[in-house]
Amino acid sequence: MDSLHLDDNTRLLVLTGAGVSAESGIRTFRGADGLWEDQPVEKVATPEGFAADPRLVWRFYSERRAAAGACEPNAGHRALAEWERRLGERFLLATQNIDGLHQRAGSQRVVELHGSLFRTRCAHCTRKPFEDRTVYPVGHLERCDECRGLLRPDIVWFGEMLEEENLRQVRDFLLRGDTRLVFLAVGTSGAVWPAAGFVDGARGVGGRTWLVNADPADNTDRFHHFVQGRSGEVLPRLAVFD
Ligand code: APR
Repeated sequence: MDSLHLDDNTRLLVLTGAGVSAESGIRTFRGADGLWEDQPVEKVATPEGFAADPRLVWRFYSERRAAAGACEPNAGHRALAEWERRLGERFLLATQNIDGLHQRAGSQRVVELHGSLFRTRCAHCTRKPFEDRTVYPVGHLERCDECRGLLRPDIVWFGEMLEEENLRQVRDFLLRGDTRLVFLAVGTSGAVWPAAGFVDGARGVGGRTWLVNADPADNTDRFHHFVQGRSGEVLPRLAVFD
């Protein structure tokens, strides 16, 4: 297996997807037994779906909140946290995952591109999103203390924009000219934008690009290196610190 050489002149941007959490027992979205096989995205992961049936949406996310809360980080998460300890501010982790396992493994420089299962916000007012680990009973709807509007998961749904501040953090890291950029995508099908385009942003600034994935992704051909395998097995052996 090729080694990912990381020295004092290298900065590393990592993008993770559901495949990194799969080995912790959390379902992925696409492919065999994917979440979207038995839950129509339109009904549970769009603003329209929430407006039409907020109880169904809360049931879907409460189940995922309970499932993720019962899982533990795996060796892939721990390897990424170790790389951050070695690289410091020359490391940034942008994750599409909402399960919080990176933080539980010790990662701190994390950009949660798609929000968090364990944060809730008001669907109607600008009240600040707040940490919420409650697994609501089926059929329960929680209302905002300030405006009495419905509360919703603080998750980016299909058709919604990602937080500009998060995208700015990734863009600034890509464009820093002080070190050599390496971009690594792990456990993601490359099916959802803008994350699927990060590899092109990295190539645009001369970065070397790596994909670690159990299967070829939609954008495999955009990467200089493709290591096919499970992230929990590959990541602990991939990096060499020169
Ligand atoms: N190790 C590495 N890769 C794996 C593993 C594993 N153990 N298990 C699965 N994979 C790969 C699959 O081959 C697949 O390509 O992880 C990828 C998961 O792809 P998706 O299920 O599409 O998940 P993801 O890419 O994270 O989806 C992006 O889409 O549904 C939305 O908002 C949701 O954040 C999600 C976004």
